[in-house]
Amino acid sequence: MKIRDALAAQPAGQAVTVAGWVRTRRDSKGGFSFIEVNDGSCLPNIQAVVPASLPTYEADVLRLHTGASVEIDGTLAASQGKGQSVELQATAVRVLGFADPEAYPIQKQKTSLEHLRTIAHLRPRTNTFGAVARVRSALAGTVHQFFQSRGFVWLPTPIITASDCEGAGAMFQVTTLDLDKPARTQDGALDFNGDFFGRRAFLTVSGQLEAETHACALGDVYTFGPTFRAENSNTPRHLAEFWMIEPEMAFADLARDMAVAEAFVKALVDAALTRCAQELAFFEQRVQPGLTAMLRGVLEHDFVHLTYSDAVAQLAKAGRAWEFPVEWGKDLQTEHERYLTEEYCRKPVIVTDYPAGIKAFYMRMNDDGRTVRAMDVLVPKMGEIIGGSQREERIGILESRMRQSGLDPRNYWWYLDLRRFGSVPHAGFGLGFERVLQFITGLANIRDVIPFPRTPKSAEF
Ligand code: 4AD
Ligand code: MG
Repeated sequence: MKIRDALAAQPAGQAVTVAGWVRTRRDSKGGFSFIEVNDGSCLPNIQAVVPASLPTYEADVLRLHTGASVEIDGTLAASQGKGQSVELQATAVRVLGFADPEAYPIQKQKTSLEHLRTIAHLRPRTNTFGAVARVRSALAGTVHQFFQSRGFVWLPTPIITASDCEGAGAMFQVTTLDLDKPARTQDGALDFNGDFFGRRAFLTVSGQLEAETHACALGDVYTFGPTFRAENSNTPRHLAEFWMIEPEMAFADLARDMAVAEAFVKALVDAALTRCAQELAFFEQRVQPGLTAMLRGVLEHDFVHLTYSDAVAQLAKAGRAWEFPVEWGKDLQTEHERYLTEEYCRKPVIVTDYPAGIKAFYMRMNDDGRTVRAMDVLVPKMGEIIGGSQREERIGILESRMRQSGLDPRNYWWYLDLRRFGSVPHAGFGLGFERVLQFITGLANIRDVIPFPRTPKSAEF
């Protein structure tokens, strides 16, 4: 039986078998050992009370240490101890695997998150990483529920692609060329004719361009998958491999885009509060005091809407010594985003209508000719968790924006076809799944909300 179900058993008295990993063992003088066992099904351990009279007691039970795996038969009983309602009175203990206490790298005393990153294969056995994994899984379910219940079609976009959606060039190249002696053309350049795809290929930075093809056929679609960026950003909020959810909606403008984004963020927060209450209580206690009240606050208020130009004006008035100077035309940095959401508005903020020069080519040009119909959702502690926009549906403007961004429209012929044949207004956004997990768990470093983080110089596991 899962420990989650054993702890919830009402009334006690049932004979059960549980299996899991030993967290601690304590021997009492009264002829018992107390073994705390966790199987990952929930945050709390079950306490097994093991009588010294068991035949395996000396040989096995007294050799159990943190990290060992066991299977225990026993009877559930109301617990006399503090902090748990049910304990297991053991009638048999079978050791599945011992763990050498000298060598086991997770010890009972609190181990730092930094240290646990070096043992990513074992850290899911800790309270923090078990809780993160369960929250992540529950919210992945919510992602699909949210969109499916609204009639969005899930679209698996390719991981290998030839197009650079963000036009930022921070892409990992995918090649089967022999790196020691690659084929070269007559003028000495690399010859991609001999490469696997017969052209340069990359890991995708976003499924958006492909999602637009299906939005412009099916109406509302969404993607949910891994994306890759080779930017050399060693920050607590950047990964080289992260998961993104990208809805794309036809016959939609920026207002609908923002409404869906707000409802989506609230649905994720609400699901975490209702489906992962135990985990959030743990994060509240161990990671970020005030976390659940802050998350509840997100549900209670409308997100604030602010244009980029108004945001810049407010930042200039804030009287702060910004590390990055504020100036119309420059991108907002995390310090600016956090000021807007934490201090100026004190709730999530959607900043719209950014200067065209700092946003991607596909965003719809406003009538002022210098801003685009972009929107970023900013939340306290994190800054940006969503980036989105209404898309440029006018082919001529789109082509010239591509050229300005240094992209050759001929390489995006299929994307332009969506405007050539039956073009419609459409909009979408991308939500960084790990960013939202950071926001919901309070964990300060993005490396702690994905099981196997990929960052510059780091891909051990
Ligand atoms: O703002 P971004 O770059 O937008 C896009 O990729 C669009 N194509 C989305 C769309 O309109 N369909 O990225 C979207 C979100 C960011 O707001 C952020 O939450 C997350 O993806 N993100 C990252 N998360 C972790 N590590 C990184 N290196 C990230 N880069 C972006
Ligand atoms: Mg962005």
